[in-house]
Amino acid sequence: MNTWNRKDLLGIDGMELWEIEMILDAAKAFKGVGERSLKKVPALRGRTLVNFFVEPSTRTRVSFELAAMRLSADVVNMSTSASSLQKGETLKDTAKNLEALHADMIVLRHSSPGSCRFLADRLQASIINAGDGAHEHPTQALLDSFTMREHLGSLAGKKVGIVGDILFSRVARSNIHTLRKLGAEVFLIGPTTLVPRSFESMGVRVCHCLDDVIGELDVINLLRIQHERQRKEYFPSLGEYTALFGLTKARAVRLREGCLIMHPGPINRGVEIDSDVADSARSVILEQVTHGLAVRMAVLYLCAGGKGVPA
Ligand code: CP
Repeated sequence: MNTWNRKDLLGIDGMELWEIEMILDAAKAFKGVGERSLKKVPALRGRTLVNFFVEPSTRTRVSFELAAMRLSADVVNMSTSASSLQKGETLKDTAKNLEALHADMIVLRHSSPGSCRFLADRLQASIINAGDGAHEHPTQALLDSFTMREHLGSLAGKKVGIVGDILFSRVARSNIHTLRKLGAEVFLIGPTTLVPRSFESMGVRVCHCLDDVIGELDVINLLRIQHERQRKEYFPSLGEYTALFGLTKARAVRLREGCLIMHPGPINRGVEIDSDVADSARSVILEQVTHGLAVRMAVLYLCAGGKGVPA
């Protein structure tokens, strides 16, 4: 019988399959809490969680806040503009001060890869990675796999295409680790500049033509072009990108029946996905967001000392 013993969630790389499955199974139990009229359990009563977002976020920040509230934790939200980082305080000093105020858990989003590991090695508090640069976004990948499992059952042998800006994507990296461990076949699809062949060393298939593989996929996950991380132009124009790699209406017709359309958000409508396709019946984009709440409840519960799937 496996027992959870991590205080932090820093990334999927290095996690055991049973740990991923324990989070997904715990999320299934917590999904039921969200469907009750009284959406609250006492698991984190008396604990304090600080949501510390040094990069913008809608989905991740709000769902961590709601997840902590549903577990009865006390929650404080911090953003860069309202923190003393603006006055030159270091990340470590800021986090140490939060710990001095008895923060038990810090959910961190930061532009620097490794920033969550850096704090986890220096603080007693649990550190939960809400996205660190282009490194990892573990709870996004977990909620993506949770959503796929809800629709498809076991992911063993399922073909999952991740399309777009893979090079700069923490979502793609965490998804690759998660999906490979769960037995899925992963296709990375995009221009050569954003999907280099070197990704094949992660056990995935690299494709530079979406039209060659679109009819094979069980899941298509579209990623946003992350202009904020790019330091040069990686393709001639957004129009050309959409023509070759966008999930246009014409291209969506070629998806297999039952293929799930996913996107981690935020969506750039009309660029990586057509607006009507994003809102179509095959799209599970908003369901992903809802599942993020249950997955984040599971992560907080386990890292706060829960030993396994709650009864
Ligand atoms: N998917 C995701 O991380 O969205 P936010 O940036 O809004 O948190």
